[in-house]
Amino acid sequence: MRVIMLGPPGSGKGTQGERIASRYGVPHISSGELFREEVAHQTELGKTLSGYLDAGDLVPDDLVLSLIMDRVTAAEADGGYVLDGFPRTVPQAQAAAKIAREANVTAQAVLYLEVPAEVLSARLAARGEGRADDTARVALHRLEVYTQHTQPLIDYYTQRGIIMRVDASPPVDEVSAEIFAALDRIGS
Ligand code: AP5
Repeated sequence: MRVIMLGPPGSGKGTQGERIASRYGVPHISSGELFREEVAHQTELGKTLSGYLDAGDLVPDDLVLSLIMDRVTAAEADGGYVLDGFPRTVPQAQAAAKIAREANVTAQAVLYLEVPAEVLSARLAARGEGRADDTARVALHRLEVYTQHTQPLIDYYTQRGIIMRVDASPPVDEVSAEIFAALDRIGS
């Protein structure tokens, strides 16, 4: 199973991504988690990344690609992937598609998690102290960055015929059930 999770901050990409990975036995690759680990370990890379994460800005495309693409191309050996938070810009998606084609690991589906903006803000606020970038000001900026840079991917993947729209506002288990039903139809 090779799936990309697409959706605004707070839409449930991480929550559902973990569940998909567990159900289909594939790695859950979260760009945000990878970056937060680097920051937590205070590596040189982490120091570079923390400025972007704290501000809610996107990490530059070339840096993201250099950190993530090896994990994507390992998918053939790993049996697939759930990509959570990547690609996040059209240039990232184009670069990822090219490399994935060459490695024979093209995505089978893009799950677009749709949630109204007011629900997103409430979810991020409820996570409270959980993440440094969940303060009201930074969360709002992340939503703006999503609208400007990531939302164009909806058209990009719609044109490629692999997008699946999911109403991600109901409770977590209901959203998972809808996703699993859709993915079961694709097969592994
Ligand atoms: P990232 O970690 O990807 O954060 P995000 O996209 O802002 O998403 P979140 O993790 O906040 O939300 P989510 O959609 O995963 O929802 P979740 O399951 O957590 O990125 C962080 C930063 O890293 C970026 O700002 C950027 O700086 C950088 N970055 C990452 N990737 C990048 C890239 N490719 N290019 C450039 N920069 C990049 O759920 C949220 C909350 O809601 C949780 O508390 C959860 O319990 C709750 N919840 C989930 N589903 C439901 C539900 N159905 N009902 C009720 N509550 C729910």
